[in-house]
Amino acid sequence: MNDLQTRSEKISNIKKASAIFDEAGEIIQGGGLVAFPTETVYGLGANGLDADACAKIYEAKGRPSDNPLILHVADRAMVNQVAATVTPMAERVLAAFAPGPVTVILPKRDEVPPKVTGGLSTVGIRMPDNDVARALIRAAGVPIAAPSANRSGRPSPTTAAAVLADMGGKIPLILDGGPCRFGVESTIVDCTGERAEILRPGAITREMLAEVLGELAPPPILQADEAPRAPGMKYTHYAPLAPLTLIAASREKNGEAFRAVIREAMAEGKRPGVIVSRALADELSEYVPLELIAVYGDADNLSSMAAHLYECLRSFDDKDADVLFAEAVPEEGLGVAIMNRLKKAAGGRIRFID
Ligand code: TXA
Ligand code: MG
Repeated sequence: MNDLQTRSEKISNIKKASAIFDEAGEIIQGGGLVAFPTETVYGLGANGLDADACAKIYEAKGRPSDNPLILHVADRAMVNQVAATVTPMAERVLAAFAPGPVTVILPKRDEVPPKVTGGLSTVGIRMPDNDVARALIRAAGVPIAAPSANRSGRPSPTTAAAVLADMGGKIPLILDGGPCRFGVESTIVDCTGERAEILRPGAITREMLAEVLGELAPPPILQADEAPRAPGMKYTHYAPLAPLTLIAASREKNGEAFRAVIREAMAEGKRPGVIVSRALADELSEYVPLELIAVYGDADNLSSMAAHLYECLRSFDDKDADVLFAEAVPEEGLGVAIMNRLKKAAGGRIRFID
């Protein structure tokens, strides 16, 4: 599956792009793949009720087939097409946050093929807050199964160019809706049990969910031999090409901490690259060549850091950094999701400096 011509179509006005949505809808109905923007990251979409079409997603991504896909719906009515029951808990989450960056886990209907859910009896459902995504779902007329549109293990794509880098030659069409607003994948909430449980942190934070649900199940403390409840969370993820280490220091100590690890790397003959907030980037510009500094955003604005996280990781793909260091953020609010992704990208390598 490496011989397709991949077209990337810029969508600036939905109404004027009806021919492209007709074409994209036909590709999905015909069992093909279309990449599309959402408010979180770009998705790689197929007809979510067609097992053979979904098999192509796993093939294009090189994704383990036990890792279930999320079904994307255009409106509340479509949720009933894929969920056997919508629990009161899910109803509250959807009312408060859909469309938006949240996925609810519910019992699946028989119409949803086991291929989509990795054999589970539950299904992940999400209503994206993105006009291009919802226009595509409407054009296709079916729920669209879509994981992030990266090759398995790579950072999720937040621009059409990043999708093209990973999926070029493997899929016929990318809908380019510009850069994604949130930049980290949806919060996954299991709504099948007694208490709601966050399986993956995202932009809808624990505090926001607690406000509409009351008490949530406590965050899991994973035992080494225990499979995570969101199967995808067990795999290596978001990894840039050069090995990454997180540097966790106080704001006052950040500059000193980074200078130390940079010196150390250079003494070993390595070229270090850094992923840091704006203020720290300014501070390090004397020590690291500019092209090896990627700026997340402002340390006081976690949303901007989340939005640029994956582009920062990908920006080193074509640079000759041997090692990467990224600035850790406090694990509060959106910082929980950012650190969750950073720790996976770093394969757990984190240095605490005080
Ligand atoms: O923001 C998002 O959620 C993006 C955009 C494209 O919508 N999608 C996304 O999909 O991140 P993906 O496939 O990269 O991640 C889906 C995660 C995986 O960790 C998977 O294991 C988990 O959701 N998941 C899916 N269905 C599940 C289920 N029935 N039970 C538990 N976890 C599930
Ligand atoms: Mg993914």
